Amino acid sequence: ATIKYIEHNGEEHDVEVASGTTVMQAAMDNNIRGIVADCGGSCSCATCHVYVDESWLGKLEEQNDMEEVLLEEVFDPQDNSRLSCQIIVTDDLDGMVIRIPERQF
Ligand code: FES
Repeated sequence: ATIKYIEHNGEEHDVEVASGTTVMQAAMDNNIRGIVADCGGSCSCATCHVYVDESWLGKLEEQNDMEEVLLEEVFDPQDNSRLSCQIIVTDDLDGMVIRIPERQF
């Protein structure tokens, strides 16, 4: 699936992401700036916070309790905030737009 990452400065990156890869991992692999992912994807650091374009939110798996708690701690949380290490890319998500927050701390 192609995922569009938009950095906070407006720079856009269309990235081809294999199914089964997380939105966080694909960002790291493609040098997208603004995602830190200190914990390496184990849903404990909250430094992989992103905003998912509203039209895609409904296609994602529900947040688990851990993600919900962590999202209360992030910088500038919004209704469309998610942790990118908890979003696994599938073909259904082709075209999804991910915006990266100004900062992670
Ligand atoms: Fe740490 Fe997502 S990478 S919570």
